[in-house]
Amino acid sequence: MNNVKQTNVATEMSLLEKDQQYVWHPYTQQKTAALPLPIVRGEGAYIYDDKGNKYLDAVASWWVNIHGHAHPYIAKKIYDQLLELEHVIFAGFTHPPAVELAERLIGILPEGQAKIFYSDNGSTAVEIGMKMAIQYFHNLGQPKKYLIAFDDAFHGETFGTMSASADLSLNNAFKSHLFEVKRIPVPTEGNLEYSIKALERIIANGDNYAFLFEPLIQGAGGMIMYPPENLDALIALCQANGILCIADEVMTGFGRTGKTFASDYLKHKPDIICMSKGLTGGTLPLAVTSCTQIIFDAFLSDDKYKTFFHGHSYTANPVGCAAAHASMDLLLSEECQAQIAMIEATHATFLEKMKGHPRFKDVRQQGTVLALEFKTDESTGYFNNLRDKLYYFFLEREVLLRPLGNVIYIMPPYCIAQDDLYRIYGLIEEFLETC
Ligand SMILES: Cc1ncc(COP(=O)(O)O)c(C=O)c1O
Repeated sequence: MNNVKQTNVATEMSLLEKDQQYVWHPYTQQKTAALPLPIVRGEGAYIYDDKGNKYLDAVASWWVNIHGHAHPYIAKKIYDQLLELEHVIFAGFTHPPAVELAERLIGILPEGQAKIFYSDNGSTAVEIGMKMAIQYFHNLGQPKKYLIAFDDAFHGETFGTMSASADLSLNNAFKSHLFEVKRIPVPTEGNLEYSIKALERIIANGDNYAFLFEPLIQGAGGMIMYPPENLDALIALCQANGILCIADEVMTGFGRTGKTFASDYLKHKPDIICMSKGLTGGTLPLAVTSCTQIIFDAFLSDDKYKTFFHGHSYTANPVGCAAAHASMDLLLSEECQAQIAMIEATHATFLEKMKGHPRFKDVRQQGTVLALEFKTDESTGYFNNLRDKLYYFFLEREVLLRPLGNVIYIMPPYCIAQDDLYRIYGLIEEFLETC
């Protein structure tokens, strides 16, 4: 009787009431945050709420949705795969979607990548890259202790990737549980010398297994951008000293920077590459960590303890792999490549217009990512008060932008219409007039 009553009460509650009763949202202080928007449908660059209002998704839903929402081509491939094989354990078994996707990825990844290891989100892709590098040296009988990473880095949410990330106040509760990582400054324009000097000092002390970096754009750290030549110099120095180089392409992969991978801009190629987000076009959680043959070979042995003992329940999920295939079909199509070129060119024109604006400290662009950094009297970073003001200004005008503190950025699905880009720029100019 009681149960029946409770069920009736539950069905009478609105979606938002139920949400507040049962759900814990990511990166949200639920005591003070506004109620979440109930989204019931997506199409192209737009998402629709339960009242029929539509919002332009100008951040590709946390950077994953590269082809727009509910893409019928990806949906069909997912459906077909679901009817064929939805999942099978990947230890001791294999299946066509995983093998064919691995072959295809190796074909388009920067030179030198030879093996694909599957997982299911960006953090685990990076965690796996770090573990591969640590165990590589362990298996060779030369264990090494330190990871080298950039200031302002963001690599994920696991303990390993939190350690690798910059000293973010977001991780205060966990600080005493994180391991030591050697830091170097980001080699932004004019700063290469500082980075090189810091790296040389760290290398002189030895004991480093890998250098981990977000190539060309540090995303969550504030869309900080730096030139490929500078990264090349750091990679060359590391590789000359036997330190493995791990590119975290979780955000930059699959066309974001203008080329398929940010590492395509580099002369010196990484030893390990981590990917997720755009891999399935924002449809299913899947991630990949690729590595060179030399790294893989260090795990081949008659000694069972040299095995890479890592795997997730959903490793290489066939439906996720089918989604990745479909997303890649779209990404490599002429139409999508033309859209990427259109976004780059359209951003570039707006960037020129905004250069030197008195409200901006800096404006910058890499490929399809445009970032505008406001001058501020407060400390910069995630908790800057301008963030909420900007966020709600745009949301009230039905555009989803999620500023990183005082940095507003546009990272749209590649299918966005040029007129929609103009609309976003127009709103940015409207905001500038109000402040
Ligand atoms: C560069 C980079 N690495 C790793 C991650 C973590 O990915 P995920 O949120 O899928 O765990 C992110 C997420 O924003 C990222 O930007």
